[in-house]
Amino acid sequence: METSLAQQLQRLGLSYQNKPESLKEWQNFIDLINQSYKKLQDALHDLAFKTQILQHVESVTQVGTMSRRDNTIEWSDELYSIFGIDKSVPPSRAAFLGALHPDDRDRINRCFEELVAKRAKFEEEIRVLTPTGLEKHCTMMCELDTKLVPGAHIIFRGIVLDISQRKQAEADRIERDIAEKLSIEMLDLNKALDKEVQERTHELNQTQALLMNAAKMAALGEMAGGVAHEINNPLMAIQLLVEQIKGLIRSDPTKWQDKVLRQADVILRSVKHIASIVDGLRTFSHGGSNDKFEKYPLRVLIENTLKLCQAKLNHNEIRLEVAEINESTHVYCRPTQITQILLNLIANASDAVTELPERWIKISVKEKEKDKLVEIRVTDSGKGIPEHLRDKIFEPLFTTKEIGKGTGLGLSISKGIIAAHQGSLELNTESPHTEFIIRLLTEAPQKENA
Ligand SMILES: Nc1ncnc2c1ncn2[C@@H]1O[C@H](COP(=O)(O)OP(=O)(O)OP(=O)(O)O)[C@@H](O)[C@H]1O
Ligand SMILES: [Mg+2]
Repeated sequence: METSLAQQLQRLGLSYQNKPESLKEWQNFIDLINQSYKKLQDALHDLAFKTQILQHVESVTQVGTMSRRDNTIEWSDELYSIFGIDKSVPPSRAAFLGALHPDDRDRINRCFEELVAKRAKFEEEIRVLTPTGLEKHCTMMCELDTKLVPGAHIIFRGIVLDISQRKQAEADRIERDIAEKLSIEMLDLNKALDKEVQERTHELNQTQALLMNAAKMAALGEMAGGVAHEINNPLMAIQLLVEQIKGLIRSDPTKWQDKVLRQADVILRSVKHIASIVDGLRTFSHGGSNDKFEKYPLRVLIENTLKLCQAKLNHNEIRLEVAEINESTHVYCRPTQITQILLNLIANASDAVTELPERWIKISVKEKEKDKLVEIRVTDSGKGIPEHLRDKIFEPLFTTKEIGKGTGLGLSISKGIIAAHQGSLELNTESPHTEFIIRLLTEAPQKENA
């Protein structure tokens, strides 16, 4: 165990009163002093080393210290570093308060006053404002040495701990928590939205299917009159021919054999004509959105369509001109749906020109082999559609026709059908007459990422 200098002197029989007298005693005394001096030197080295470590710890933990003994104030290097000020600034209470955020200065000054008056230690949060404008969050703790006896030096100690990083980390954590919560809520919301969209899409699809069916039925209804007329004429002719044949056979079957055969041929042709109209009607009323896409000859498609509306056009004295269509021209489509589009375009054209002195509808086809496209133009003798209506006509339920005549669905449904065909339907605003252009693919489109 270490013994004090006084104890060691006592062991040598020496004391402050009992001074060394003999040479031997002096030698022992000097040895002792030497040893004590060496110990003191070691202790000083040790202290310097520990001070270095303390400085290092202060800087790592960002703790600055300050102390005051009577009027001598000392600040550690780290305190200067936290304040961001130069070490040439002499430490003082004013300098300390000056390093704080202006809103914190009065509060901390009051704490210092109370510390001196009541010797109560304090711990406060402070904001340091560095000369470069950086705001740091710190906590500070100060105390007076309470073991002081009256008349002794006043000793004050304080530490300032920079907690900006900790605060920032906490803010980051809170932000992360909020972001996490938000993203979970967003996910839930998205799921709910997805569900809602799915339900609405389903409802919309159902409504669209109903509307398409309604539009088709309306078109069928409109055609019925014309078709009846178209069928009636050949039927009447057949009836007449059969009556004639009966008469001829009754009078002289051998004589009239050739005539009877010719008339039978006419009957057969009429029956075929009627059959093809009925066939077209049946296909149109049954087929539709569930049909298969197929490469279909455009000429046949247009001919079949015209069979369904020719009578109405004849009745309204509207001239129909169909330009030559190549037999080889095919379109990749659901034929019934394209028939539905063409029927609507022709019906619209017919409605538009009925009251005009000049009444015609022209259909022309242009194949653009390079683009694998076919353009079908339906033009009428009208003078185009007024600019303010051009966008509206494609909107569902927009019609300028009187109640009961138009539903306003024709063009919007046609647009939907054409989109499913990866084609286009547009009004040609360049044309002097009202003209709609349908563009359709001639081949099946190549599947993406197949
Ligand atoms: N060829 C045309 N000439 C003049 N206006 C037209 C022509 N085609 C369409 N329109 C205008 O566009 C509107 C919308 O046409 P759409 O075919 O969508 O409906 P609709 O013909 O009124 O009714 P629906 O076709 O449902 O019986 C028509 O009411 C008409 O005003
Ligand atoms: Mg229409």
